[in-house]
Amino acid sequence: MQIFAHRGASAEAPENTLLAIAKALEYQVDGIEIDVHQIGQELVVIHDRWVQRTTNGKGLVANLDFKQLRSFDAGLGQQVPTLWEVMILVAGQCNLNIEIKGLQDTSILFSIMAKAEQELGFTTEQLIVSSFDHHLLSQIKTLKPETQIGALTASKPIKYAEFAAELGAFSVNADMAFLDEAFVLDAHRRGLKVFVYTVDEPEDLAQLYRWNVDGVFCNKPRAAKNYIRSISSQK
Ligand code: G3P
Ligand code: MG
Repeated sequence: MQIFAHRGASAEAPENTLLAIAKALEYQVDGIEIDVHQIGQELVVIHDRWVQRTTNGKGLVANLDFKQLRSFDAGLGQQVPTLWEVMILVAGQCNLNIEIKGLQDTSILFSIMAKAEQELGFTTEQLIVSSFDHHLLSQIKTLKPETQIGALTASKPIKYAEFAAELGAFSVNADMAFLDEAFVLDAHRRGLKVFVYTVDEPEDLAQLYRWNVDGVFCNKPRAAKNYIRSISSQK
């Protein structure tokens, strides 16, 4: 079961900052998950639509200009990073799940991903683009079919993972709150990976491990890695 650092190692450093990404790399995670918004022609790494929870600034991300956003402190003196800055730091050392929160121009994303493969040593298999916006995922898949799509859901659909298969997704990225074994079995039967958020409790990790889930997004990736190692060595 792969361990993804959720918003970087976000329990130990300010979420979605280069510090949190660096911590995750230090723990040798299998992957890192980040949240991305578009500001003008830049893609920036921040979770919320509004900046106040995670920075000392104020305002709607979409209404700020890049310079303003960069003037804010995202915690411990960190700036809100760009997607490209995160990619430079990760540089193909692990998988990168880019969760799209806001994107108007898909060509910006495509050119950053292509450049990351050409210049930073990422493989196509290491990059996953996920979103709760399935219309956007469908558009991405149509424009660039080789993109690995993660179809996010916070619900348990009547037809389980059918929506993700219809999108041509690589994975279904599901909320722990509604996941059950039937959902996992259905997704696997359709050839989809199952990644689950947000998982830090050992009991949850153990259950997902028993269900053969493929990956988990953890705020405490080091603890999760140690725990999974301990239960897998008991087998
Ligand atoms: O990508 C998994 C998870 O991050 C989705 O929810 O709100 O934490 O971005 P959220
Ligand atoms: Mg996210």
